[in-house]
Amino acid sequence: MGITTDHVLSEVEHRLREVLAGFDGATHLIDAGGKRLRPELVVLGAEFGPRQDKVVDAAVLTELVHVGTLHHDDVMDGAPVRHGVPTANMLWGNNRAILLGDLMLARAAELGADLGMAALRLQTATLARLVRGQLMETVRPRTADPMAFCLEVMADKSASLFAMAAELGARVAEADDAVCAALSAYGEHLGIAFQLVDDVLDIVGAESGKTPGTDLRAGVVTVPVLHALAAGDAAADRLRVLLVAGAVTDPDLHAEALSLLREGPGPWLTRADARRHAELARSALSTLVPCRARDALAALCEGVLERAV
Ligand code: IPE
Ligand code: IPE
Ligand code: MG
Ligand code: MG
Repeated sequence: MGITTDHVLSEVEHRLREVLAGFDGATHLIDAGGKRLRPELVVLGAEFGPRQDKVVDAAVLTELVHVGTLHHDDVMDGAPVRHGVPTANMLWGNNRAILLGDLMLARAAELGADLGMAALRLQTATLARLVRGQLMETVRPRTADPMAFCLEVMADKSASLFAMAAELGARVAEADDAVCAALSAYGEHLGIAFQLVDDVLDIVGAESGKTPGTDLRAGVVTVPVLHALAAGDAAADRLRVLLVAGAVTDPDLHAEALSLLREGPGPWLTRADARRHAELARSALSTLVPCRARDALAALCEGVLERAV
């Protein structure tokens, strides 16, 4: 990250707290940590255009959408820990956690309204995709191709916000349409790679600041689970029995399922899938002018594969 990016990102930190001031607990999760990856994408995307006065608000609204949906996601997943601290739902109950999430989405909409119609349309369309992804993951309709379904859910629930972040930065900076489109494609693939790694970390991660095995406990079927089930061995048969009821909540059965997943081919096959998407993200950058921001975006393609948190 360069000096200018650092400077803008420190303004983002300040403004995030400013727009959430006056609400008890609203900055709890933000203060505890977070990689601020999406604001970084906004700021790097903005380096492809001439106008810089809207970039901080664009980055702040993107992180607010992210953290708002994390509050809702932690309620949905019954997650007790994030960023190494108890979640809002754990501390104050589901009602307050949901309302804090709503507050962040509302504040994000207020900021979006001041960025112009194109930015607001991008923001609202992204939020609709994100919610659709979370909804599909929850409803789990019967499908002939579970892997394709899983990838579609990931694209909607996670990659949509990465795509928005990179494109929004470029849009508010008044970059060309072709640049915006390239950055959107980049963000989409980067986001899928990111979520694939996240699903691996939910199985193997020890230091993620989250509780490993949350997906299993919440009954969320992820790509590493599908790879493990497709292996066709005794472990896959046992896993299928353990997962038949959906959520695995019994502590002994949960531990057994998690160790079968850790020892099976799921983690490395999923990492290989993530690498392919990271490569597609890198290719999407090829039409952009070579510059510091492009190098930083390319480096993130490696970064998401190597992350441990
Ligand atoms: C968590 O995202 C939600 C997913 C899409 C997996 P991050 O891992 O980027 O969360 P923070 O911002 O660092 O907490
Ligand atoms: C989170 O997905 C996606 C959104 C918040 C929209 P996950 O449930 O996989 O993310 P983590 O693991 O809780 O961060
Ligand atoms: Mg979750
Ligand atoms: Mg979830």
